Amino acid sequence: MRSIQLNTSIPGPRSRALADRRAQAVPRGVSQLTPVFVSRSEGAVIEDVDGNRFLDFAGGIGCLNAGHRAPGVTSALHAQADRFLHTCFMVTPYESYVRLAERLNALAPGGAPKKTLLLNSGAEAVENAIKIARAYTRRPAVICFEDAFHGRTLLTLALTSKTHPYKAGFEPFPSEIYRLPFGLPEGEIEDAFHKVVAPESVAAIIVEPVQGEGGFNVPPAGWLAALHQVCRKHGIVFIADEVQTGFARTGRMFAIEHEGIEPDLMVTAKSLGGGLPLAAVTGKAEIMDHTGPGSLGGTFGGNPMACEAALAVIEAIEQGGLCERAAQLGARFRERALAWSRQFAAIRDVRGLGAMQAFELADAESTKALTKYCYEHGLILVTAGTYGNVVRILMPLVVTDEQMEEGLDVMEAALKAACLDRTPVEVA
Ligand SMILES: Cc1ncc(COP(=O)(O)O)c(C=O)c1O
Repeated sequence: MRSIQLNTSIPGPRSRALADRRAQAVPRGVSQLTPVFVSRSEGAVIEDVDGNRFLDFAGGIGCLNAGHRAPGVTSALHAQADRFLHTCFMVTPYESYVRLAERLNALAPGGAPKKTLLLNSGAEAVENAIKIARAYTRRPAVICFEDAFHGRTLLTLALTSKTHPYKAGFEPFPSEIYRLPFGLPEGEIEDAFHKVVAPESVAAIIVEPVQGEGGFNVPPAGWLAALHQVCRKHGIVFIADEVQTGFARTGRMFAIEHEGIEPDLMVTAKSLGGGLPLAAVTGKAEIMDHTGPGSLGGTFGGNPMACEAALAVIEAIEQGGLCERAAQLGARFRERALAWSRQFAAIRDVRGLGAMQAFELADAESTKALTKYCYEHGLILVTAGTYGNVVRILMPLVVTDEQMEEGLDVMEAALKAACLDRTPVEVA
């Protein structure tokens, strides 16, 4: 029996003081999902500036599959910090960028020769994938999906689906973006080529193999393969956005592998950098090489610190068997969550792939109340979904069995308390 205790000192005085300064210095548009400020972290645990301990089931929104301060990552960073920090790869290159490109080219699904471009964020990588697809096909249009999330820059906002809080007020967006329902059957996609946009105008279809921010939506089996076929038939570049699904989260290195697809271009970020800002476009060499010298890049893309971290992350995933671990963790969550769904009418759905799992509640208010209960009882969680009513787990895959059970127990207590009752709850 575990006693789930309310921590009345969350947020503590130091976090409260920092929140006041934050409110003065940082715009409201940058949201704050928990009221605590971090002082240190390790594995799957965060400690705040008041000494409170939290299990981190958010992982900086899916960026820490290999864990907070993974040992190989921190030692690689220390060593790199003693050598050099920045030269700009376009000015004075260094080996780690090349080595990471080689690693990603080898890891990317399929046998075609690959090349990799490194960037700073998921949105920047998506923008570059679209640029490359347009240049290669000499076509303007891009097809994306309802409930998609591809970033917050202007082009990626055009691809992102959710209006509030992301898009509203930031119009106009770039043109030639067409949105179809996620999971739309192949025949209806062909129909859209008559009613919505001509296929010979379409440069790319961009899709998340499992939608992340949109609510951990898993498409029907075979749909991604059918979409891939549609792309092949019409000479459209198939872009897999693996920013949230990548690096072992779904039980494979990349989620698209579950369907045996070789994407033309694949976008990665988040967990690639092990906590440092890093993103990549990895794709068929023939497509990636289409644009001329100087057309791609940026000052910081593939920064040496981030490259060293990423090489250590890939090593940690492979050596630590994190794909297998993701499958185990996901199975354990599903077992518990399916039992909750029989016990608590509030749960409307349990879904996911590998360790990318979630449950859906009726509305955003109860979802917010549940996550509040959780952080007040030592568990950090983030929500998702177009309607903000999905509770998702993105814990580091190095979480121990005991920590996993502890986190699940807090979620169960939150459901039992109906997110309102603040008394401690005994969990079996
Ligand atoms: C699938 C997907 N694509 C792109 C992005 C944008 O990444 P970033 O926030 O690094 O720009 C995200 C971020 O959540 C994402 O989940």
